[in-house]
Amino acid sequence: HGTAVVLGTRPELVKVTELLRLLGPEARLIHTGQHYDEEMSGRFLTELGLPEPTFLHGVGGRPRAGQLAAGLEQLDALFAAAPPASVVVQGDTNAALAGALAANARGIRLVHVEAGLRSHDRAMPEEHNRVLIDSVADVLCAPTEANRAALRAEGVPDERIEVTGNTVVEAVRHHLPSPSERAALRARHGLAPDHYVLATLHRPENTDDTGALRATLAELGALAAAGTPVLLPLHPRTRARIDAAGLAPLLAGLTVTGPLGYGAFLGLARDAALLVSDSGGVQEEVTVLGRPLVVVRRSTERPEALRDFAELVRPGAAVGEAARRRLAEGAPGLRRLAALPSPFGDGRASERIAALLAPASPAPAAPATP
Ligand code: UD1
Ligand code: UDP
Repeated sequence: HGTAVVLGTRPELVKVTELLRLLGPEARLIHTGQHYDEEMSGRFLTELGLPEPTFLHGVGGRPRAGQLAAGLEQLDALFAAAPPASVVVQGDTNAALAGALAANARGIRLVHVEAGLRSHDRAMPEEHNRVLIDSVADVLCAPTEANRAALRAEGVPDERIEVTGNTVVEAVRHHLPSPSERAALRARHGLAPDHYVLATLHRPENTDDTGALRATLAELGALAAAGTPVLLPLHPRTRARIDAAGLAPLLAGLTVTGPLGYGAFLGLARDAALLVSDSGGVQEEVTVLGRPLVVVRRSTERPEALRDFAELVRPGAAVGEAARRRLAEGAPGLRRLAALPSPFGDGRASERIAALLAPASPAPAAPATP
């Protein structure tokens, strides 16, 4: 009975927090342990005020098939012992796919939050995860009309799709630190408002290709050397690849930290002159914060961000070129973006999804009009 929310990574913790709050004690949180470092998981559970999860074992740090196999087997045992009425998964991670397959195997209603995103890049495990989850989901919560159209084009019946907006919009609004807290965060790293770059990298296409990783780090180093400080909070995957490839000397001119907490990251993103990232969530968050972003990727499943806020570039010289062009727009460029609405929703996505999960569904909240 009730709802089980299955997740395993940092961005999922961020994006289900408000939904879990709205569902209250009837909802159960199951964490596969895909992310397991205190800095990637435990700290977020505390900071976001999430309920104590049931943890699976032996999932994190394994190759994809091992994560899926270990996750699926343990989830199946949990669902057999106490079947939830609905299972919720968010996004496109291995944890989300394991949750989806476990629900499917037990005939439990599956709700997919962030349905219908497509990069059409089949080299990404996330693209396979998304397509597989959407193909077995009973309720597909599409953030945008474009996501709905992608699902329709794949033959998903209309009655399974709800356009809800993306829950990241309310996450940003709830957790953005105040101006004085943001000043303290900047002071900690010696940064001046609107005069630094905040960068993150963790996609295999950037980290597992040593040439790409070297080129992007060199471009970030050149930006710093030219006078714009670059803050780089390193994902553990990226840290490991930099060390293994002997690229640590390229970090010399950068301000490098471990992964940041959510409020700290948002606060520093809000006042950055520019972000450079391959993150999915960051593509959405910059549209709420009104900041420009250079997306270092081959493709994106979030083209809504590209019109005004973001541009897509390959690793290498294009990163520096795009960054310098965006930085040259200065204060007028930042003011222009600050005035634009986010294409990802109105901050009520979690409310709409919670209404879909209610036992006797009341009238849903007004449809999303970004
Ligand atoms: C995963 C998701 C990706 C998401 C990202 C969010 C998949 C296929 N990928 O990528 O979509 O954008 O999470 O951050 O699900 N590691 C640690 N400590 C941790 C977590 C990871 O050291 O707490 C290291 C381990 O060496 C691990 C590697 O990072 O093998 C990769 O972790 P994994 O969870 O497999 O993929 P991510 O790159 O984090
Ligand atoms: N984030 C964070 N600390 C960091 C880097 C990112 O809290 O040091 C947040 C970021 O604001 C976003 C989420 O983590 O909400 C994105 O996670 P990630 O880039 O790892 O995954 P993706 O969104 O690409 O799946």
